[in-house]
This record gives sequence, structure tokens and C-alpha cells, in this order.
Amino acid sequence: MAQKNNQKNDDVDIKVIELEDIPGVGPETARKLREAGFSTIEAIAVASPSELSTIGGLSEGNALKIIQHARRLADIGGFESGEKILERRKSVKKISTGSEKLNELLGGGVETQAITELFGEFGSGKTQICHQLAVNVQLPEDEGGLNGSAIIIDTENTFRPERIIQMAEARGLDGNDVLKNIYVAQAYNSNHQMLLVDNAKELAEKLKKDGKPVRLFVVDSLTSHFRAEYVGRGTLADRQQKLNRHLHDLMKFGELFNAAIVVTNQVMAKPDQLYGDPTKPVGGHIVAHTATFRVYLKKSKGDLRVARLIDSPHLPEGEAVFRITEKGVEDTR
Ligand SMILES: Nc1ncnc2c1ncn2[C@@H]1O[C@H](COP(=O)(O)OP(=O)(O)OP(=O)(O)O)[C@@H](O)[C@H]1O
Ligand SMILES: [Mg+2]
Repeated sequence: MAQKNNQKNDDVDIKVIELEDIPGVGPETARKLREAGFSTIEAIAVASPSELSTIGGLSEGNALKIIQHARRLADIGGFESGEKILERRKSVKKISTGSEKLNELLGGGVETQAITELFGEFGSGKTQICHQLAVNVQLPEDEGGLNGSAIIIDTENTFRPERIIQMAEARGLDGNDVLKNIYVAQAYNSNHQMLLVDNAKELAEKLKKDGKPVRLFVVDSLTSHFRAEYVGRGTLADRQQKLNRHLHDLMKFGELFNAAIVVTNQVMAKPDQLYGDPTKPVGGHIVAHTATFRVYLKKSKGDLRVARLIDSPHLPEGEAVFRITEKGVEDTR
């Protein structure tokens, strides 16, 4: 196990292992792997032999060997002592959503080293909360931030710099300064979306050195590409498997960098259904079991929104009412 993540207070030191450190990977193979998007040990460790062997010059046998070596180097699926986990839990921090009520519901704010899933129908405020968090994460700790930067994977082209400026200025910040610390990538399909998590690690390592550590990682929307690409019953298991891997990668990112992971998931309201729980849509939730915090968002009168915490292991279920205004996410008056 070559990679060790030594804990130091709230931060984690990462020793970067290069692809060339994998036995059997020379500069030429490393170049081809990188070109194909396999830029980190982790990306290779979770790849399938057939996936890797489609890259020029690799037989399936060699691909398998490389994957096995990468798994060992990446320490994937290893065990940790309870003491080490406790140590890591101590460094968990929270980002303010902008609404005290919503923060309370979440036990103080959006947690680092955890996945928070925002789900609800269109216009329920998922993207707005993501924008707000990308602003708030940059605030000092005593103002609800973590002095950090944000990474956003935008799958629906709904990131709006103008909205960030609006929210930043409402808090007395310089809009352009705030935008400088938000890194956005468009994901063109689910594979691209997954690879972007790997690319993000390189960016996160750089930002950490620059003293602006990534404390927020948003995927908005987590599920849209997966939904569009995997239609029909036969492909649901594949979709699930890929999504699970994606969420696992995200969780790992969150733990490595002490970042909050926030993902969105659109669910349809069912107007024809008078009885039953609207938060349990037909087809089930595709991310229900991996997310640590699941927040159901509902539109209410005017700018009011209702958030409900679902199935939280250590927080009581409850509701919070907040508003989405020109200034951003706010408490009701
Ligand atoms: N500048 C603004 N001022 C006031 N309210 C705004 C502003 N921008 C957006 N909103 C509010 O936020 C709503 C859009 O919410 P948002 O985009 O977060 O929905 P969503 O849950 O992400 O939906 P979807 O599932 O379609 O992505 C708008 O309908 C409006 O009520
Ligand atoms: Mg949205």
C-alpha cells in the first residue's frame, strides 16, 4: 500500500502516485491512458479490463494486470481502524446554506466528507442552493463558510455566473472575486461526468497548495445523463452500477479533500396521486442508499420553499421553510 493519507488537523496530505508508478506502465502506455481520460491511479483501479484494453496496444490480460496493480496502489476498498475514522470525523465541517432554518434541519449546514442529495421537482431550488453554497463556502468560518473554493460539474448547462455575482454582492462580496474560486465543467455524458471527478482531483491538489482548498463539490444534476442514457428495464442494473461507482468516487473525493459533496436529482411530482408519499417516486430513488443526507425540496407559495430531511441516520426528520429571493437562499421573515 503505497498511498497513505496522513491526517493533519482538518487537512489531508496526498502523495500523488503517477501512472508510471504502476508496474508494466511505461511512458508510452501512460500517455495513451491519459489521453483516453484515465489520468489517475483511481480511475484505472475502478476500470474494467475491456474498458482499458480498448486503448491502443493493451491486451485484456495486460489491462487486468495493470488494474490489479492500480488497485493495490490506490488502496481501494481497504480497511481503516475505527480510531482513524474518528480522527477523520473530527475534521468534518459545515457550510451555511444561507438559511438558519435549513442549516438547523441539516444539523448545522452542509457537511464535508458526506454526500448531500437535493431532490425535488423542477424549480424547487436545487440549482439555486448549489449556487448559494458555492458562494458561501468562500466565506470565513465565522460567517458560515470554509475559506474554500468550489468545483461544479454542470450537466444541464444551468450554471449562471450572473446569479453568483448577484448572490455574492448581496453578501457584500466582490462578484468577480467569488467567481474566480468557482471551477465549472460541463459534462457531455455520463462517462465524461465520471471522468471529471478524476480530473477534479488534480485541480484540488493544486488549489490546496495555493491555499484555496476545495471544500465544495457539486454535481448538478447527478442523474440527468444517466436517466437519458439508460432507458428500459434491461439497462437499469448497469445504470445503478455505474451510478454507485460514481457516488463512491465522489465520496472518496469528499474524504480525501474534506469537501462537501452536493448532488441534485430531479424527481417528478405526481399530481394524479392523491395519497402516498410524494418523496417516494415510481421507479425508486437511484441514489437513496449512498447519500448521507437526503433533502426533499418542495415549492410553496411564491418564493417559499419547503425542505424535508429524509431517512437521515443521525438527525431527526423534520421540515424547514426558507425563501429563494434575488439575494439567494434566505430565511422567511
Ligand atoms: N435571480 C433570482 N431571483 C429570485 N428568484 C430566483 C432567481 N433565480 C432563480 N430564482 C428562483 O429559483 C427558481 C429556480 O430554481 P432552480 O433552478 O434551483 O430549480 P431546480 O430545482 O434546479 O430545477 P430543475 O430540476 O429544473 O433543475 C425559479 O423558479 C425562481 O423561483
Ligand atoms: Mg436545476
